[in-house]
Amino acid sequence: MPILARTPPMGWNSWNTFGNNINEELVKTIADAFIRRGLKDAGYQYIVIDDCWSEKTRDTNGRLVPDKSKFPNGMKALTEYIHSKGLKFGIYSCVGTHTCAGFPGSFEHEFVDAVTFAEWGVDYLKYDYCYKPRNAAGEDLYKRMALALRNCGRNIVLSACNWGNDGVQKWIREAGCHLYRSAGDIHDNWKSIEGIMLSQLNNACFNGIDCWNDMDMLVVGMSGTGENAYVLSTGCNETEYRTHFSVWAMMNSPLMIGCDVRNMSEQTAAILTNKDVIALNQDIEGRAPYCIRQWNNLDNVFSLIKPLSAVSDGDGSDGDDASTTGGDYAVAMVNISDVKAEMSLQFYDIGLPYASGLGLEFYDCWKHEVIGFFTERASIDIEPHECRVFRCKVKKA
Ligand code: GLA
Repeated sequence: MPILARTPPMGWNSWNTFGNNINEELVKTIADAFIRRGLKDAGYQYIVIDDCWSEKTRDTNGRLVPDKSKFPNGMKALTEYIHSKGLKFGIYSCVGTHTCAGFPGSFEHEFVDAVTFAEWGVDYLKYDYCYKPRNAAGEDLYKRMALALRNCGRNIVLSACNWGNDGVQKWIREAGCHLYRSAGDIHDNWKSIEGIMLSQLNNACFNGIDCWNDMDMLVVGMSGTGENAYVLSTGCNETEYRTHFSVWAMMNSPLMIGCDVRNMSEQTAAILTNKDVIALNQDIEGRAPYCIRQWNNLDNVFSLIKPLSAVSDGDGSDGDDASTTGGDYAVAMVNISDVKAEMSLQFYDIGLPYASGLGLEFYDCWKHEVIGFFTERASIDIEPHECRVFRCKVKKA
């Protein structure tokens, strides 16, 4: 099988904003918005419908049937539309007897469902964990669907969603999945974002090419709106949404948008299409970051440091760029406290002692400009809930 997820997948998923309220017209207009609002150009590719797309029962051949009122022309017509825009289509099912919302799951139907999805032209399957028979090992059920997909006649990305249960990091890569959820469901508020972010810092080491740690779909731009009561909450301010996007990008999480991109604000579009930040996420080397704490503010401030391939334009297709000289480092500095703070990054801690005669030039990925050249350390002010993101070049002092 070819490598289907060379870099973290980027796209949109219906769940966060629309929940049960999905249909053909919605999905088509989302695809149109991908082009109109610059998302496709920024690298977003997959349009994924989540739970609630099917009829409540299978047909007489045991096949899944798209809900006739939501998808009156069936799935094949829809995937053709999406493919005609140069985009890819994702669908949703579940390892259990039912999906989380009570629609038919793929348990004991894995092989027929994989073939059905292939016939419809599906490119991506999100595979959830509800209604799993108690005595069936989740590990075996993901292996089963992975094998079914690998033999269905079409390349289909397998996106596991077991919320980090059952030590998923230990077995998900060898099961053959391309990404995996590693925490519970996100909500549209800062506490939820902070909780997921902190819970994943120690999991960065399990993350890598063709099997990415999915921190959940983005809530950037939802701003307390949407039709899904499970996700709907107070919303966040712009700084917090930027931090959310920055940290997901730095952690190599897939970037699956969750807001209604058809009418997103200019500020939201600017966050989601920030090429400098996306380039860090899509860096061809796929290295996860390590974390450095601030010695005198251990609980509130930390840095993420990620070695980069020398050059990447963020489109995930430039593996040969790694042959150019260089070796930038991405540095993200996060302040989760409610007051302004300073992070002083000692370069010794990232392998750059003063005696080397080298320093770092800091390019700010949100301001899109070089902010200075530093030796030995860089002390940076960070607003409450802010994440400052830099692309740093190693240079002679
Ligand atoms: C679970 C998943 C969510 C979403 C819903 C759909 O809660 O974690 O991302 O897919 O199911 O019912």
